[in-house]
Amino acid sequence: MIIKGATGSIHILFILTSFSALLSCDAQKNTRTSETTLINESKSLEPWALGPFEKENTLNPILTPDDENKFVCPIRRKVVQWEAKDVFNPAAVVKGNKIYLLYRAEDTVGIHAGTSRIGLAESTDGFYFKKLPQPVFYPSNDFMKKYEWEGGIEDPRVVEDEKGKYIMTYTAYDGKTARLCVSVSSDLLQWEKKGPAFGKVMNGKYIDLWSKSGAIVSKLEGNRLVAQKINGLYWMYWGDVNMNVATSSDLIEWTPLENEDGSFQVVFAPRPGKFDSRLVEPGPPPILKEDGILFIYNSMNLDEGGDPALPAGTYAAGQVLLDASNPTKLLQRTENYFLHPEQEYEITGQIGNVCFLEGLVYFNNSWFLYYGTADSKIAVATYNP
Ligand SMILES: *[C@@H]1O[C@H](CO)[C@@H](O)[C@H](O)[C@H]1NC(C)=O
Repeated sequence: MIIKGATGSIHILFILTSFSALLSCDAQKNTRTSETTLINESKSLEPWALGPFEKENTLNPILTPDDENKFVCPIRRKVVQWEAKDVFNPAAVVKGNKIYLLYRAEDTVGIHAGTSRIGLAESTDGFYFKKLPQPVFYPSNDFMKKYEWEGGIEDPRVVEDEKGKYIMTYTAYDGKTARLCVSVSSDLLQWEKKGPAFGKVMNGKYIDLWSKSGAIVSKLEGNRLVAQKINGLYWMYWGDVNMNVATSSDLIEWTPLENEDGSFQVVFAPRPGKFDSRLVEPGPPPILKEDGILFIYNSMNLDEGGDPALPAGTYAAGQVLLDASNPTKLLQRTENYFLHPEQEYEITGQIGNVCFLEGLVYFNNSWFLYYGTADSKIAVATYNP
């Protein structure tokens, strides 16, 4: 069953919720119709998982493109409306009493249907954001131009190190190969490029590896997400088909974990017949808790052989729990997605039927989860424990 409109889905959810209240818990567990998907998503998240998250439907989308904001692209040497086309896939950071989003923005220029750059927006409540008129991180005439031009800089994720320095992982796209890269900042405004995450290990064997989506295992310290060593090393999940993993001693240079035959270690993989049947990809930074590493992941549904209740190609999100002393060991995995496209702006856009989660912060006693919708806008869901 595909839920098309917001009104319809709210209506159905209301009926099902009232109906389910009449059922005993056992009856609910044994009911296996497509309708239970909705109940499961909103009501029966596994007890170890984070949530349930509620989309802020009256405020979403909270960030949209803007063709007023302009800057001089140092490579084009021209004024560019750098966020005219789409804004999506944001990293989120709490700094002081504010939430900051580092969001991906695309112009309409060039051969790849727009170059991606990173903009910065700030908020005192997590819902209303003020953007800086110029991007804070973008391709330039530097040593990274050959990797970043002219597809640009995509999909940032940000954590802090122990000293409060911000570590960003991002995808550099030259139009041919996506490379997972690292950048650092002390203020979120000035970013120093550190190069491809896997560029130096094993004599540069992985410099041309297609790699994306680095999510560094972190611990919540107050409101800050601080990268956390486990067994003497930092850990990062990465990949956009299977969930791979890498380690580092400095958060800059990373070593992908390989099997004995040289293939990459797979921590978990797509599952046939489910919402995550086509690919799995990191979401926001995983959080080290007492019972394990809580990791929200993005995933894509197969055209055939996936979850028949979701349209082909849908990006919905699940959660896993990994062993706190062995980050390659999977302990738990949600049976269902806990967040999926259903609102008009999630269904329609640059790429339809996409909720892509990248920012998760703890602020004002709630979890704020930020996600790109249809590769075009940004929305937020919250969970107050
Ligand atoms: C914190 O949450 C409370 C309760 O939801 C709300 O009334 C208050 O305005 C929030 N504070 C900030 C700074 O957003």
